[in-house]
Amino acid sequence: MNETLALGLDELLTTTRSVRRRLDFSRPVEREVVEQCVEIAMQAPTPSNLQNWHFVIVSDPKKKMALADLYRKGREIYVTLPSATANVDFGDPERNAMQQRIEESAQYLNSNFQEAPVLVVPCIEGRTDSPPGTEIPGWGQVPPVLLQSAQWGSIAPATWSFMLAARARGLGTCWTSLHLYFEEQAAAILGIPYAEVMQACLLPLAYTKGTTFKPGKRDPMDSIVHWDDW
Ligand SMILES: Cc1cc2nc3c(=O)[nH]c(=O)nc-3n(C[C@H](O)[C@H](O)[C@H](O)COP(=O)(O)O)c2cc1C
Repeated sequence: MNETLALGLDELLTTTRSVRRRLDFSRPVEREVVEQCVEIAMQAPTPSNLQNWHFVIVSDPKKKMALADLYRKGREIYVTLPSATANVDFGDPERNAMQQRIEESAQYLNSNFQEAPVLVVPCIEGRTDSPPGTEIPGWGQVPPVLLQSAQWGSIAPATWSFMLAARARGLGTCWTSLHLYFEEQAAAILGIPYAEVMQACLLPLAYTKGTTFKPGKRDPMDSIVHWDDW
């Protein structure tokens, strides 16, 4: 295994940020390091131990550009939505300022996505967007929420493990989803069998400029914890 940063476990868990402006596009990412991160991601749980995640690792400049262009097209749609980062008014100047910083950082990634040495597309066998009543192979007909839980509950923890393993090795990532407006086109670029395999997100992966990151600002815990009753 490559050397990992001297981070405490809680520090790793609280300082794995969405890195955009501090991605070092000039430093190559070794295949071995990517494989170490996948190896760690594969320790995540799956229902019935299906192990049905896949990680498509993209380093081909033409494919990276094609994915980045799809992301940019998706973001053009997203920025018009009321829930877009720049359009939400939290009624709190401090929170609004934070949103503005995220927006600027997101714009930077938007313009430079293809520059990341590696893009990663975590995928899961089995789509959750089949029409209602469709038999899902191996699942039959199940409540949609159960299928969603099975699929996202498998790929999200594995992806987060990948992101944590990357951070531990001095690399940064950012969970992004806007290329999914054009998921089928992305599948065609990468040869992913779209009908059977669902993409979860698109991660830029690069070493970071500096390795010190701070915990993000979050709402008070009281607003989200419900003991015994909502
Ligand atoms: C499901 C999901 C989708 C996201 N999509 C995007 C995206 O498309 N583009 C982007 O720049 N950031 C995206 N983010 C990153 C969030 O903006 C980021 O997590 C949030 O601002 C908090 O920042 P932090 O992760 O550094 O704490 C996404 C995060 C999640 C969990």
